[in-house]
Parts: sequence; structure tokens; C-alpha cells
Amino acid sequence: KTGLNGLAARTGRYFGTATNSFNVQGLSPVGPYNDVLDYEFAGALTPENEGKWEVIQPQENVFNFTGVDIIVEDAKRIGALVRGHNFVWHQQTPSYVTNITDPEVLKQTLRTHVEAVAGRYKDDWAYLDVINEPLFENGTFRDSVWYNLLGEDYLEFALRTVHEVAPNIKLGINDYNIESVNEKSMAYARIAKNLLDKGAPLHFIGFESHFVGGQTPQDIAASMKQFTDLGLEVPLTELDVRVSVGPEDVANATGLTVQASDYGSSVQACVDNPLCPGVTVWQFYDPISWIPGVFPGEGAALPYDAAYKPKPAYGAIEGVLKGA
Ligand code: G3I
Repeated sequence: KTGLNGLAARTGRYFGTATNSFNVQGLSPVGPYNDVLDYEFAGALTPENEGKWEVIQPQENVFNFTGVDIIVEDAKRIGALVRGHNFVWHQQTPSYVTNITDPEVLKQTLRTHVEAVAGRYKDDWAYLDVINEPLFENGTFRDSVWYNLLGEDYLEFALRTVHEVAPNIKLGINDYNIESVNEKSMAYARIAKNLLDKGAPLHFIGFESHFVGGQTPQDIAASMKQFTDLGLEVPLTELDVRVSVGPEDVANATGLTVQASDYGSSVQACVDNPLCPGVTVWQFYDPISWIPGVFPGEGAALPYDAAYKPKPAYGAIEGVLKGA
């Protein structure tokens, strides 16, 4: 094994990335995207968008597996595990689902989705973000068709339904702003304990880890412990560290240094916890990061710049993995 994933593998962990089928097919971006992916991030692949409900079942009973199939094939070629992403979310879910008003119809609609998608990938996905981002920052449940019709029990229903179809996939809930001990992560700790007490198949809490340079939590370890004390895994699922950028998504030297230190401390938190199975960056190449489109004036959030040159962040990750 080579690159960052090779170093992570020496600690029993994976190092991976989110990607899209058109990325791994070499259609875009141009340049050595695949060479870098295969060398550095061959531990784990997450479909960045193509596993989401609106893409994989855009109309009722009309499935489009093409994108995820391509990523799964690529993962087999490079020896990566696959993290499925995601089934139950308040975004990127078609209106034929969000307009349902009958709880039983909603449950049946989820069952159909699970049977088709988890059924297809039951031997291909190692992990699955079954439920994505169900809570507000204060730890209460977001408004969504799921919560509104089924109440809090939708978490247990979704986990059990997937587990019946795909007993070998590790199942979890994935969210952001839970990398500190705060209202949101404490709410998850209560919810996770409650689910485990009921015997629900919950195996991990995904720490998305979308961080801001200089504001990356310094108590990730303490937040992880809330879950690992329950026996749950705590993968970093969507790591990126955005900084202020000038025109063309270029950060200054200070930004890059701060970012490097934040990448280092985040990866350190993973290698320090035996129940952190690995780290996934949310893409690795700045020009195709989701950040600039959503946070104008911020960006350059990934370990490789527009020239495919490794940034100081890369060195910081490498240093932590070498020391682990
Ligand atoms: O595919 C359509 C294209 O046909 C259309 O012309 C274009 C016009 O806007 O939109 C394209 O869809 C975009 C899609 O990405 C694919 O590129 C959506 O607008 C855009 O909103 C969507 O953004 C994705 C976002 O999730 C959606 O909420 C980002 O790429 C993706 O990185 C981001 O990932 C999320 C995780 O799933 C969950 N955690 C947070 C993370 C960042 O938001």
C-alpha cells in the first residue's frame, strides 16, 4: 500500500476520499486525479452525491445505479472499502417521498429503497451512513418528513430495516458540528445509548469534520469518547478545512499553515482512538471542493492545490500518520 493510505494501513486504519463516477472515469477533472487517488486515498471511497436518494431513485421505483456501480468497481480495482452515503436525509430527497403524509406509506417507501439499494450493495459496502444530519445544532430533531410522520422512532426503524437486508454493513448516523462536546454531540450520545439499549443495529457515529481553519475543535478526543465508551466506532467521514481565499480560490501562507495544523490535529484524534477506523476527506483536490460554491470567500479546503501539488496540509497528515 502506498501514500497516505499506506501509512494509515500500518495503524490498521484506512485513508480515503469522497468521489464521483465521472471523477474516477477520468472525465473530469483533467490531470492526474486518478493517479493521486489510487496512490494516496485507496483506503475508502464514498460516493459524494450518486448514492443519495434523488440520484439513485429519482422517481418512484426507477433506480439509477450507474454512478455508484462505477465507484464500487473502482474501489474493487484499487482495494478500497466503500462507505455508502446516504438513505435518510432532509436534503436531496425527491418530492414523491417528502410529500408523503401517511406514516405507513413512508415506511413502505423506505423499505422499497432499502431492499433495492442495500440489497444491491450488501456485499460491497463496508459502512453506510443510514441517517444523515437528523439534528439541529441545539440537539433537537430537524423538521423532515421522517421525523414529522414517524417521530424519533424513524432512526430505529431505518437502522433495523437496513440491517435485515444487509447484515454485514456497519450502520450509522452521520453529522457535522459534533466534533466537540456540545449540545448536539451530547444529544447524539443520549440517542445512541437509547438505540443501543433497544438493541438497534447502530455501529458508528460519523464525524463529518467540515472544519474552519483556526476554529477546528480541540476536544475531538473528548467528543469521540462519548461514543466509543458505548462501543461505537467514530470514523471521520467528510474531513475538509476551509480557509479565507482570494480570487481563484488561493489561500495565503498563514491560512495554509493554520490549515495544516488543523488537518494534523484532526487526523491525530483518529489515530489516538482505537475505535476510529479511518479518515475520509471530502474530495482531495481544491478545484472540485463543494466549499467555494456554498461559502463565498472561503475555500482551498483540501490537501491538494489546483496544480495537484500537495499543500502543507498533506505534510501534516503524513507526519501524524508516520508518527502513529
Ligand atoms: O447535478 C446537478 C446538475 O445537473 C445541475 O445543473 C446543477 C445546478 O445547480 O446542480 C447539480 O447538482 C448539484 C450536486 O451537488 C451535484 O453536483 C447540486 O446543485 C448541489 O447542491 C450538490 O451539492 C452537494 C451537496 O452535498 C448537496 O447538499 C455537494 O456536491 C456535496 O459535496 C455535499 O455533500 C454533503 C454531504 O452529502 C453531507 N454532509 C455535508 C456535505 C457538504 O454539504
